Amino acid sequence: MIDPRRVRVLFDETQIATRIEEIAADVARREPKDLLVVAILKGSFMFAADLMRALHRAGVSPQMEFMHLSSYREGTVSSGQVAILRDVESDVRGRVVLLVDDILESGRTFAFAKDLLAARGADVLTCCLLEKPGKRAVHIHPDIVGFECPDLFVVGYGMDVAHSFRELPFIGVIEQAA
Ligand code: IMP
Ligand code: MG
Repeated sequence: MIDPRRVRVLFDETQIATRIEEIAADVARREPKDLLVVAILKGSFMFAADLMRALHRAGVSPQMEFMHLSSYREGTVSSGQVAILRDVESDVRGRVVLLVDDILESGRTFAFAKDLLAARGADVLTCCLLEKPGKRAVHIHPDIVGFECPDLFVVGYGMDVAHSFRELPFIGVIEQAA
């Protein structure tokens, strides 16, 4: 077990909360009609939950759905294959969908979900909390990005390494033992 105290904070709770209020205000300004938030599980659950409450405070009344996707990884490196473990239940045709993910790296997971929902007739707005620049394997440019993330493997605020650290209320990097 890695001691959570050995996780170096990159984005603290206050920074995350402040940015989420800004993102919600951005979404509200777009005046989306009949908005459906689709959170990609598992990594985005905490971000999506906080974003939903911020959207409420910003005067938006979205519905919510989940899509559980898995990009098969070996350790911390993506293999490029995306599988649907659970699909959305609602008909998305003609609706504005705010697609929410935790972190955009190769972009394969996000591009896969965006293309799928667009093919079903949704008008997709894309929002990811973190973006690692210079790592893109497919062409996707999110409409809304929370923070630029350094090219490090990050954990916390829903994000894991080997299923651990999702519970941390901040985003951090595991310090390597000397
Ligand atoms: P992509 O398909 O390569 O863009 O990978 C995106 C998915 O990989 C994200 O939704 C995360 O679940 C996971 N991921 C990518 N980078 C990290 C990281 O630094 N920490 C934790 N998960 C990550
Ligand atoms: Mg994920």
